Amino acid sequence: MASDKKLIIGNWKMNLGVHESSLFLHRLANEVKIHRNVDVIIAPTMLALQTLSLQVNYKQFKLAAQNFYWRDHGAYTGEVSATNLRGIVQYGLVGHSERRHVFNESDKDTRAKVQAAIRNGIRPILCVGETTNERTAGETRDVIHDQLIGGLANVTSEELSQVVIAYEPVWAIGTGKNAVPSDVTEAVVTIRHQLKHLYGAKAANEVQVLYGGSVTADSAADYLALNEIDGLLVGGASLDEKAFSTIIEKAHRSINSGKK
Ligand code: 13P
Repeated sequence: MASDKKLIIGNWKMNLGVHESSLFLHRLANEVKIHRNVDVIIAPTMLALQTLSLQVNYKQFKLAAQNFYWRDHGAYTGEVSATNLRGIVQYGLVGHSERRHVFNESDKDTRAKVQAAIRNGIRPILCVGETTNERTAGETRDVIHDQLIGGLANVTSEELSQVVIAYEPVWAIGTGKNAVPSDVTEAVVTIRHQLKHLYGAKAANEVQVLYGGSVTADSAADYLALNEIDGLLVGGASLDEKAFSTIIEKAHRSINSGKK
């Protein structure tokens, strides 16, 4: 575990338009208590980011982009760059399994996006995780290794402190088949081991590492109790204000109860 702070991220994916996002954030703001030891980050659709950035109380929520292009400017019709997102978001998801598997983004694309985020003062949340077939074939460690090396290749040890890693096994995303806590521990130990190898023990211990994949208000506490993880990346349950605020309260309590 990197710090006494937990990070809870709500990835709304391609749900909620601009008005719906704004209304939902308003409802969420009424539910979610502000805790100094929990950072809450919302990743709405790209289109809603600006509206939410004008509405949000930054003590309560920070914003993340779900995606962006790795070049800063130019003739790239339809793309939005990390430079365009400066001042609007504090974080950006990179290498999410849906980007890798639905949009065929490679480790090279992921690496370029990590660089673009850092260059533009946006903290990249680098997602890694194995598919069902890779898991069945016993390749989980190798996949994590390759995705970490692939994504972080040009990141210096100073820059590493800006990076958040999320372990999201592909088979657990949106399926209701969440990973059991012992699997998560094993994967996160592998991640930190790899980071230690690349950057040394101190830098590796300071990186925030999250779990994501079918997290619910009921299952959240089991993960938050794990010493190895610093928070959660939540999809479906972040679209329900009661469930999401319960997860945030559990994050707060997991620190206060000393379980961490
Ligand atoms: P679910 O929580 O819906 O499984 O989604 C996880 C996820 O992909 C968050 O980025």
